Amino acid sequence: MKNTLLIKKKINSFNKSISVSGDKSLSIRCAIMASQAIGKSKFFNLLDSEDVNNTLLSIRKLGIKVIKKKNYCEIYGNGLNGFSFNENTKINAQNSGTFARLILGVIAKTDKNVFLHGDRSLSKRDFSRVIEPLNKFGVKINSNNNKLPIKVLGTKYLRPIDYVEKKGSAQVKSCIMLAALNTPGITKIKCKPSRNHTELLFKFLNLNLKINKTNKYDLIYIKGEKQYKSFNYKIPGDISSASFFIVLTLLSKKSKLILKNININKTRTGIIDILKKMNAKIILKNKKKYKGEQVSDIHVYSSDNLKSIKCPKEMNSRLIDELPLIFLVCAKAKGISYFENLDELRHKESDRLKLSSNFLKMIGIENKINKNSFKIKGNPNLFLSKDYIVKNFMKDHRIFMLSCIAALTLGGKWKIHDKDSINTSFPNFLKILKKLGGVLNK
Ligand code: S3P
Repeated sequence: MKNTLLIKKKINSFNKSISVSGDKSLSIRCAIMASQAIGKSKFFNLLDSEDVNNTLLSIRKLGIKVIKKKNYCEIYGNGLNGFSFNENTKINAQNSGTFARLILGVIAKTDKNVFLHGDRSLSKRDFSRVIEPLNKFGVKINSNNNKLPIKVLGTKYLRPIDYVEKKGSAQVKSCIMLAALNTPGITKIKCKPSRNHTELLFKFLNLNLKINKTNKYDLIYIKGEKQYKSFNYKIPGDISSASFFIVLTLLSKKSKLILKNININKTRTGIIDILKKMNAKIILKNKKKYKGEQVSDIHVYSSDNLKSIKCPKEMNSRLIDELPLIFLVCAKAKGISYFENLDELRHKESDRLKLSSNFLKMIGIENKINKNSFKIKGNPNLFLSKDYIVKNFMKDHRIFMLSCIAALTLGGKWKIHDKDSINTSFPNFLKILKKLGGVLNK
């Protein structure tokens, strides 16, 4: 029972200001980029979660000095391809798709065998998406049907590539960009737009990067073999973590919430654009630029009269991790909402399309998956009073947190399993819920 959360009461109205922990995508990228820089980099507000701590542990295993203090973290890079480790080193990516895919780009030039494995969820996920471009670079990979565990053998003779990335995956794009740093020549990536933190970091670090944007694709050119200096970074709050509290506020009565210093990079804020179209009252204040990223405070108010949405498929990559939460808002919105091209949603920590559909059915919301499109019939008068059990969701952190938000805003008595899943991305999640007045486990 220790790993189960009970919620039996809706949250009362609140008017508060909070911070959420550091952006996960940026934390992992900063640690990885610092491991290849020359000298000591220093990071504040680096996310203190399993995915990021495991990234630190892994680069340490690859020969990089890492010092973690209470308020900051220092990483001592030895320059490009400056890892030093023994033949057959084993790296455990645990639950993190981002770390697993990005580190493969970084080790592309090391001519020692590395074994990469992960937990049950990560071992079900597709790695052909990175194996294919890495093979083109000259890296040899033995896999278990394109899944982890894999054995990787890089090469000193890494060659630049031309690659077309059609999934809109930032992990694939970043893996290629990192491998390109080690090649003599220009790598060209034609990719569907996706989160651009790696591009912004490359620019901030003065690396040789050129980007041309066309209607449907970004064309990225990287000239490799340029060393770069260490850097300092204060990681802003994670919009994906903030989103749980944005939706909590929207669906609660007479409440207001200010979320301080959140990264509102345009490639990540699809949820805000979609929720605003659905009549949500959300205002961005105090906007600032930080090292190429955009940050601001987010003011959110309870919002009645939510209306359904037809989500343009071009937006999917800008809100991919927030889709299950957006589906929950659609459940309370008037009318039928519609989403398409959701194939990628099936390839996350769990099949989030199938789990979201089952979740909505459990709370009495009609919905239908048709291939990779999804229809939800909203009910603005949705109030729950039964008992609900959430389990067997591959310990997917975002499904756990979604369930908490549903329980605190819709009513009913909830038993939600695998509480420790939040340690992946947002260990403070339950503490903040309590601060806002959520009654948990009583
Ligand atoms: C991430 C990219 C996205 C996202 C993941 C984090 C990143 O995955 O779902 O949570 O930091 O690059 P894909 O690149 O597979 O779309």
